[in-house]
Amino acid sequence: MNFENIILERHGKVMLIRLNRPNALNALSPDLTKELGLALDQLEKDDEVAVVVLTGSEKAFAAGADIKFMKDLTYMDVYKMDFITDTWERITSFRKPTIAAVAGYALGGGCELAMMCDFILAAESAKFGQPEINLGTIPGAGGTQRLTRFVGKSKAMEMVLTARLIDAQEAERCGLVSRVIPNDKLIEEALATAQKIAALSMPIVMMAKDSVNRSYEVSLSEGVHFERRLFHSTFATEDQKEGMNAFAEKRKPIFKNK
Ligand code: CAA
Repeated sequence: MNFENIILERHGKVMLIRLNRPNALNALSPDLTKELGLALDQLEKDDEVAVVVLTGSEKAFAAGADIKFMKDLTYMDVYKMDFITDTWERITSFRKPTIAAVAGYALGGGCELAMMCDFILAAESAKFGQPEINLGTIPGAGGTQRLTRFVGKSKAMEMVLTARLIDAQEAERCGLVSRVIPNDKLIEEALATAQKIAALSMPIVMMAKDSVNRSYEVSLSEGVHFERRLFHSTFATEDQKEGMNAFAEKRKPIFKNK
């Protein structure tokens, strides 16, 4: 399939998806979010793809939902089209690992899209924020919910109520991003991280992802119960036998995704 608003680059078992609306700082138009969803549908079925890295440009991961598209929409328009729910959230149900590699602006929907990924690697140039309040609206793609869970109430509230942007260092300090990387090394490091994951047993990686994500949905005891059942189930796989035998035999494991 040909896409106009995203670029797909295959790096072995890692697919790099570049958001590509350079004239609009990658503002997330309906066409872009639709293409991203369609691409993820394809990649979910593609056994040759193990991990997805989502990135933008050096200047912007994405500067938010497309304001020029939204500005004249009425309540009935957004309600009927089920705006945001209609195309934006495919990545949250994607079963393989997703890494957001963020340089430049990740604002509004851009910050929200990054937070929908499994983890965020930030270039030193990254700037995160939820500036919707300046436009007379509020975050609509999970910003008030995910940001609060990641950085805590006080900082999330300040960011949402004042539109203050935070830089990469502050984002790392407060747990929004896992690591800060020099600008010129962001993609290289994101791909290397993804390759490390791609070399592991995919079903086990997917179970680990599932289990971490579960912690955001349920109580601690329910989450630990879920984890315990998945942990037990890994013992039914060939890859668990291979992983532990390889350790005992002092050799590298060869995982078969079985
Ligand atoms: N939607 C549409 N177009 C956008 C855009 C957006 N979110 N952000 C930037 N652009 C466009 C600009 O209009 C401009 O286009 P033209 O050249 O045709 O005028 C182009 O991208 C370059 O932008 P700037 O000239 O503004 O670049 P800058 O370097 O001076 O400023 C910026 C960069 C501070 C990020 C500024 O562009 C900005 O404030 N953008 C809007 C950020 C924002 O409010 N995001 C939240 C959107 S609402 C949302 O996301 C709702 C939700 O939760 C789902």
